Amino acid sequence: MGDAGPVLERLEARRQELLEELSEFLRIPSISADPERAADVARCAEWLAARLARAGFEARAEPTGGHPAVVAEWRGAPGSPTILLYGHYDVQPADPADGWTSDPFGPTVRDGCLVARGATDDKGQLFCHLAALRAHLELHGRLPVNLVVLFEGEEEAGSEHLEPFLVENRDRFACDAVVVSDSGRLDPSVPAITYGLRGLVYLEVILRGPNRDLHSGTFGGAVANPANALARLVASLQDDRGRVTVPGFYDRVRPLEPWERDAFARLPFDEAALCLDLGVDSLPGEEGFSVLERVWARPTLDVNGLVAGYTGEGAKTVIPAEARAKVSCRLVPDQDPEEIADLLEAWLRERTPPGCRVEVRRLHGARPVLVPVRGRFMDAARNALARGFGAKPVLIREGGSIPVVETFQRLLGVPVLLLGFGRPDDRAHGPDERFHIADLWTGMRTSAWLWHLLGEEKAE
Ligand code: BES
Ligand code: ZN
Repeated sequence: MGDAGPVLERLEARRQELLEELSEFLRIPSISADPERAADVARCAEWLAARLARAGFEARAEPTGGHPAVVAEWRGAPGSPTILLYGHYDVQPADPADGWTSDPFGPTVRDGCLVARGATDDKGQLFCHLAALRAHLELHGRLPVNLVVLFEGEEEAGSEHLEPFLVENRDRFACDAVVVSDSGRLDPSVPAITYGLRGLVYLEVILRGPNRDLHSGTFGGAVANPANALARLVASLQDDRGRVTVPGFYDRVRPLEPWERDAFARLPFDEAALCLDLGVDSLPGEEGFSVLERVWARPTLDVNGLVAGYTGEGAKTVIPAEARAKVSCRLVPDQDPEEIADLLEAWLRERTPPGCRVEVRRLHGARPVLVPVRGRFMDAARNALARGFGAKPVLIREGGSIPVVETFQRLLGVPVLLLGFGRPDDRAHGPDERFHIADLWTGMRTSAWLWHLLGEEKAE
């Protein structure tokens, strides 16, 4: 079927249209965590399904028990591999009050970037594949591989309904390899394949003391103050060397392989530039590990939110009745989210001081994962990145989580290829999230090459 050239030309010729179409996608506020946006999430699923159907796929937005999943199939390449393409069309919440320069759902081009919630995570990256696949179908009337598309609508909310959905539809999702573009690279000029993602366990800790807020003069000294107690409890979760103090926390942590330590040390990572970008004077953390090692291969514990007592203007002398903290841990192989949640909960209960009661709620979790770095499909992915970016890709791990990746590996038993088109300064989850427009074209080029190169392989 020739090479990817004609597809690349077609994408090139349609740049303006493609940018407008992605903007339309970004205008839909598909915030999975916000129940008031459920209709927008569903509308976004329909938008995608309609586009895939028009491109020649058998496509539908399907119920999952949570937000719909968009499933599309094209199976006209007997003898060629079957590839499952995964992405997520839901996005994180965004409030202009969080510091956005422009409307999070009114995409704007600034400094060579498309600025909008979901621009890089993951609508922009997903769109690279959609555009390349459609261009291929339009030009050739067929694809080089059999393809099953799965675009999820609740990744940012923990992917709770996706595993049951995959189990129920196991036959439809049988494949030779999975492709995921929901990650990034370290350096704009160096493409990357991700072979590891951290897992997650997320808890809400509520400490309750007296049955109502009290005057701190009348009662200060008489009762336990839940805010004081929670601050102590949370602070004692880590020691001065940056290690988590919960007994058993590190028991299953797989040590870094020597080749990984060497490889990480050789990667183009500039600590001083990161300090400058973040406005901090240093990057402290667990002793004995480099920054990349800490982010990619070590577990962590972070307070994500802390609320207690009076937080308004001026002073109010009060002992609050309760204090709340959101605490999450990033996990690495072979830690198990359930087991770590049990350890944390037991530890928090044991340490709750007299005069307070603790409630621990489990919000969500994800299993950590490492994928094999060798194999013919992995080679095809490397070649596609090399051609798309014009530079040889490096192997990286990432500190973030994509819950379904471990599920794919466990349930389907096939390689998962994580080709990230984003960059660390894309501001995912933050205000002014963006996707460099150059990455949009590079991502599309890589995608076009990927289907072409995967099509040269045989089915298992
Ligand atoms: N795209 C990210 C995952 C990611 C982040 C990959 C950074 C590589 C680098 C994904 O959309 C995400 O944010 N996942 C959540 C999962 C959670 C809600 C279970 C995360 O990591 O917080
Ligand atoms: Zn995300």
